[in-house]
Amino acid sequence: MSDWSGVSFRFNLPTKVVFGRGTSGEVAKEALSLGIRVPVLVTTAGGSLRRHGHIDRVEKALKRYFQDVKVFDRVTTNPTTDLVDELVNYIRVEGADGLVALGGGSAIDTAKAASLVFMGGGRTKDYLLGVRKGKEALPLIAMPTTHGTGTEVNKYAVVTDPELSAKVAIVSRHIYPKVAIVDPSFMDTLPPSLSGATTFDALAHALESYLSKSVNPLSEMFALEAIKQIALVYKGMKDGSLSWGSPGVRDRLAWASTAAGIAIDQSRTGILHALEHALSAFNPELHHGLGLAMLAAAWAKVIERKVPDRVSEIVKVFGGSKPDHFHELISDVIHVFGLEKSLREYGFEEEDVDDIIENARTYLGALLSNVPGGVGDEELRFIVTESILGR
Ligand SMILES: [Fe+2]
Repeated sequence: MSDWSGVSFRFNLPTKVVFGRGTSGEVAKEALSLGIRVPVLVTTAGGSLRRHGHIDRVEKALKRYFQDVKVFDRVTTNPTTDLVDELVNYIRVEGADGLVALGGGSAIDTAKAASLVFMGGGRTKDYLLGVRKGKEALPLIAMPTTHGTGTEVNKYAVVTDPELSAKVAIVSRHIYPKVAIVDPSFMDTLPPSLSGATTFDALAHALESYLSKSVNPLSEMFALEAIKQIALVYKGMKDGSLSWGSPGVRDRLAWASTAAGIAIDQSRTGILHALEHALSAFNPELHHGLGLAMLAAAWAKVIERKVPDRVSEIVKVFGGSKPDHFHELISDVIHVFGLEKSLREYGFEEEDVDDIIENARTYLGALLSNVPGGVGDEELRFIVTESILGR
């Protein structure tokens, strides 16, 4: 932070973080200590976690201590309010009293949202729109299998209301997971495309919180740590000394993701996330991290004009010698992580630009105003148009 006059923040992360290879074996012990008697394992419908044996591994670990383990394996990318309602109903019917979420952001956010709605009653839609707040939540253990979202350590649960085309975060201090078990061995099986996309999500969290209006000494520290770890992996992959499979790479990225998750818990995100949520609301098939990467090169050109001094600090962390060439650095990160795609490939055309901006302004205005000096429609139009054209 360049200006410390009047600096002020609160820090109370109510999540116990258990980090390291093999720590997933501790899940039952953690669930017992939370007083859970009947856990629901919440996970994805895609099949890759099942195929790689991750679901069985966690189920077995739970069954060593729990007679009755329920499995809800219906979570899809960009989970909807209906899906959360379905999980709430499942918890009720099965008589469960705690959740273990295994997966990427979709599984963990579905569980976080359901933990609140189950206790508060009503429909998920009401919590998304702020009609209901909720005062308590079921205990939840989050076990991320990607190194991107950082949702295991923050108060956000991103859910989509398809009727309104609104992809918004439920924000509640009650939905912090009680325990985050970050076991990098789950991430060894991520394919290269997802590895790049989820790493970029973590990088976007770190960059956006660091460059935000609400950055503070604590979020800055966690954001810089995440950027440092991701920069190290990027440089290694660029010079050929590292790959996704190199020893320690997943561990570094897992830590970067968790650290960036704490950074956004403090200081939120900004333009990239506002626009990406709008894109995913229109095309739920779009992977969040990839959507961010497709917007990022044009975003970098806009943000480097707004906060040049802050941006040059980031370039330094990457070891760059040209502090005013942030956008070139970001384009190269996108290239090295294999994320060079255009929004056009995902069905977006120039005639959609105004709808995307209107959606972001309507539902993600808080993120847009988290940018120093705010952001004008012309700047947003530039970012989205360039990203559709793949520039
Ligand atoms: Fe994100």
